[in-house]
Amino acid sequence: MKLHDQTAIVTGASSGIGEAIAHELAREGANIVLAARRSDRLEALASQLEKKHGAKTLVVKTDVTRRDEMERLVQEAKDEFGTIDILVNNAGVMLLSFLKNDHVDEWERMVDVNIKGVLYGIHAVLPSMMEQKHGHIINVSSVAGHEIFPSSTVYSATKYAVRAISQGMEKELSSSGLRVTNVSPGAVSTELTQHITDSEVKEMFASRPMNPLQPTDIANAVVYAVTQPESVNINEVIVRPTNKVM
Ligand SMILES: NC(=O)c1ccc[n+]([C@@H]2O[C@H](COP(=O)([O-])OP(=O)(O)OC[C@H]3O[C@@H](n4cnc5c(N)ncnc54)[C@H](OP(=O)(O)O)[C@@H]3O)[C@@H](O)[C@H]2O)c1
Repeated sequence: MKLHDQTAIVTGASSGIGEAIAHELAREGANIVLAARRSDRLEALASQLEKKHGAKTLVVKTDVTRRDEMERLVQEAKDEFGTIDILVNNAGVMLLSFLKNDHVDEWERMVDVNIKGVLYGIHAVLPSMMEQKHGHIINVSSVAGHEIFPSSTVYSATKYAVRAISQGMEKELSSSGLRVTNVSPGAVSTELTQHITDSEVKEMFASRPMNPLQPTDIANAVVYAVTQPESVNINEVIVRPTNKVM
């Protein structure tokens, strides 16, 4: 129980990687604050965490694209648990499309959730972390934040931005005792691709065999980073699946 008495906020906890991160942090003894828009799923997860890991939990229905809701999330977490030790900026959308198909509303959505959502999380939590001279922020980027492939242009742009934000935070904040980890998953089996609307991209995915990671594989990387000694700052973790055909 390496995180006993610590409090972690996880955004995008209603499914996939965020849900797995909530489980693994709870297993290590952390109090878990669950944030996303689908509060019914968060409530169900909260009872699982309580039953399975004996975790203390708080559910705060949150849209990360709303600055006021991110501020309220952090305030409610502080009111309930006192301090916030870990923020996992995990919420994200991957609306892959070819530029020629002009899905401009989806480009905006990705900028709002993937970039502004991360910045609002940092804005909401940083003052208290600076004051307590302690805190760990995990930003979930992607392998698409390191490489670009056809149809990932805008998604990759948002994930390169997340990586730039993580690197800037490390340069600026490590002297204040704050830690930052940028986690870049490769393909993981979650709901992420179900929201893609570009039919050409859907066809491309359907014809490509994949051997994806499981959400717990990414959660394990997060646990590894946050359970290092306070003097150790794991800045970058890339987790790719092997290419082994199963
Ligand atoms: N799966 C992969 O292959 C993969 C690879 C690399 C990186 N990633 C990154 O991993 C992160 C998690 O994705 P996932 O794979 O676990 O996908 P997922 O199962 O679709 O989960 C996405 C999460 O983001 C939340 N979310 C979306 N828009 C939101 C908003 N406006 N406000 C609050 N929460 C919002 C969703 O919750 P609600 O809908 O309930 O709000 C959901 O909990 C994302 O940042 C994604 O880019 C995933």
